[in-house]
Amino acid sequence: MAQIPEQVGKEYDQLKDELNRHNYSYYVLDEPTIPDSEYDRCMRRLQEIEQQYPELLSPDSPSQRVGGAALPSFSQVTHDVPMLSLDNAFSEEELEAFDRRIGERLNLKADQKIEYVCEPKLDGVAVSLLYRDGLLVRGATRGDGKVGEDITANVRTIKSIPLKLRGEGIPPLLEVRGEIYLPRAGFEKINAAAIAQGDKVFVNPRNAAAGSLRQLDSKITASRPLEMCAYSVGQFQGGLSEPDSHRNMLKLLGEWGFKINRYVEVVQGIAACESYYEQMQQRRDQLPYDIDGIVYKVNNLALQQRLGFVAKAPRWAIARKFPAQEEITQLLDVEFQVGRTGAITPVARLAPVFVGGVTVSNATLHNGDEIARLGLCIGDSVIIRRAGDVIPQVAAVVLEKRPPDARPIVFPENCPVCQSPVRRVEGEAVARCSGGLFCGAQSKEAIKHFASRKAMDIDGLGDKLVELLVDKGLIYSVADLYELRADKIADLERMGEKSAQNLIDSIAASKHTTLAKFLFALGIREVGEATGQTLARNFGSLEAIIDADIDRLQEVDDIGPVVAYHIRDFFRNPDNLAIVNALRESGVSWDDVDISAQDSQPLKGQTWVLTGTMEIMSRAEAKDKLQELGAKVAGSVSAKTTQVVAGPGAGSKLTKAQSLDIPVMDEEQFIAFLNRL
Ligand code: IVH
Repeated sequence: MAQIPEQVGKEYDQLKDELNRHNYSYYVLDEPTIPDSEYDRCMRRLQEIEQQYPELLSPDSPSQRVGGAALPSFSQVTHDVPMLSLDNAFSEEELEAFDRRIGERLNLKADQKIEYVCEPKLDGVAVSLLYRDGLLVRGATRGDGKVGEDITANVRTIKSIPLKLRGEGIPPLLEVRGEIYLPRAGFEKINAAAIAQGDKVFVNPRNAAAGSLRQLDSKITASRPLEMCAYSVGQFQGGLSEPDSHRNMLKLLGEWGFKINRYVEVVQGIAACESYYEQMQQRRDQLPYDIDGIVYKVNNLALQQRLGFVAKAPRWAIARKFPAQEEITQLLDVEFQVGRTGAITPVARLAPVFVGGVTVSNATLHNGDEIARLGLCIGDSVIIRRAGDVIPQVAAVVLEKRPPDARPIVFPENCPVCQSPVRRVEGEAVARCSGGLFCGAQSKEAIKHFASRKAMDIDGLGDKLVELLVDKGLIYSVADLYELRADKIADLERMGEKSAQNLIDSIAASKHTTLAKFLFALGIREVGEATGQTLARNFGSLEAIIDADIDRLQEVDDIGPVVAYHIRDFFRNPDNLAIVNALRESGVSWDDVDISAQDSQPLKGQTWVLTGTMEIMSRAEAKDKLQELGAKVAGSVSAKTTQVVAGPGAGSKLTKAQSLDIPVMDEEQFIAFLNRL
């Protein structure tokens, strides 16, 4: 065996410490400390040393997080202290009854409030983690509460689970319990990858977390962005005396390196528990992970002990569930809608069902592949999922409930609106109507988009009115808008002379715009607001864009081959050019952008986030202003954010900015900042 030089041993320990410290900051505290490149360099050096001196390799080495050889099966683990479940309260009354029972058992006076810890009930998989002398030696599932499965190799790959505990006073034997879960973004990512591979998708993040932990090949688990939050202790032996309260226990676990949910709160009395529930229910949609309720626990551990257990659940804790984010309902029919770009979208018509706080009777099915992937038939019972502020999804079919008269869904070969053939470009999931602006559906959507606030901003020209104008044959394309006359439209339903004149006035008022808005308004595929801005800034005039070839377009940052192709394609089409010319002849105009001023764009390269309410200027104005100055305006805070502007009511984005040390200003400071530029 090669003698290990002292220097190498020391370097190895330092690398291990540094990587573990970084892991902790990144995955537990959400506060990156060193750049990824530096992390990768340390990891490579660590692995190099481990290869050369395999005897150095220890179980707490961060290199172990990538997963190892696949197991033939999981072995069984008996829990020394059973893993219990929780009783549920389904209403405020049941929660109050829980509080009363505790008061009675503890012989409290009627006005004495019990101290509770309120915690989000994370929707994942329970886990038990055993540490001996601060080293992770075993990870196990709950199983039936008495016997679970040994998933040590898998839990080692989860970056927020410490392989070695940090800090002081670690007991020789410690069993920590918590929830392993998959944040929603990770769930979407795994499912997108599964779809790309033609694999089955997971119905929800909980199933995905469970499926990821059930892998015999820990390398697969390592590839899933699982997280873990600790919420209790199973065994605590030797070392320091145990803390006196549940909250202090969680605090200690936090100090030892576990992630603790940031919304854990201590409150006095059951009324405060109820307002915590309301508050978290409001926040639920914005959280990056699923929670399915709130868990209330008596804070004082001595009182917990006095209260003890009934059957399989403690008397000192209870779960209050939120309304379900998944429900079963029936697929009544599928209709096909035609969008602005001709994309044909199947829409599920459902028997109305209350899910995630709203009644859902429609859900998008995206495209034909999605229907095939779900194996969906009309008449099927389906699981509808509505989590976060995401639109409702058909997550799965309940095959056992398929009725004998279920009918297959036939994707139309002709556009349901204009009867033109439906085409599907190879390699694309979307089928499109080939009718272009000849298709009433496409021209309607194109006009609605053109008139919308962020485009030409034609006040008073809403979706319904556009449909009416097209149906009555008063307009066919956006160019016709500027030729409309008040006397022609005054006779329309609910119109009258005054409203007709108002509409004509606001159409006229929209004529003066910016090049960026005009480009966006044209509805070129893949050209959103930001791309409109980029094009205007880089080319300065519409002529320059029309003249640019694909290569020239792609020279611009943020414009890739697909976007370039669509821009080129749009301006090559004579019908489109005719519309653009007609619009300009009707007086649609803008000031060309001075492209020489580009280098002086003071916020170029910066990313800003606006959150909370803006009280002086509108959010749209603030966004326009920032984009004019060269900044990107993003919807979420990350390590890449330069600056956050937070108004009243700012929530998770503000908290995240604070935790990442990103500078925050309020609206007044923002306006002062703009004035200084
Ligand atoms: S405490 C004896 N706290 O909910 C108390 N459980 O049946 C044991 N869960 O499968 C659980 N978040 O995995 C507790 N903050 C939390 C929790 C939580 C999620 C899960 C737990 C268990 C189920 C309760």
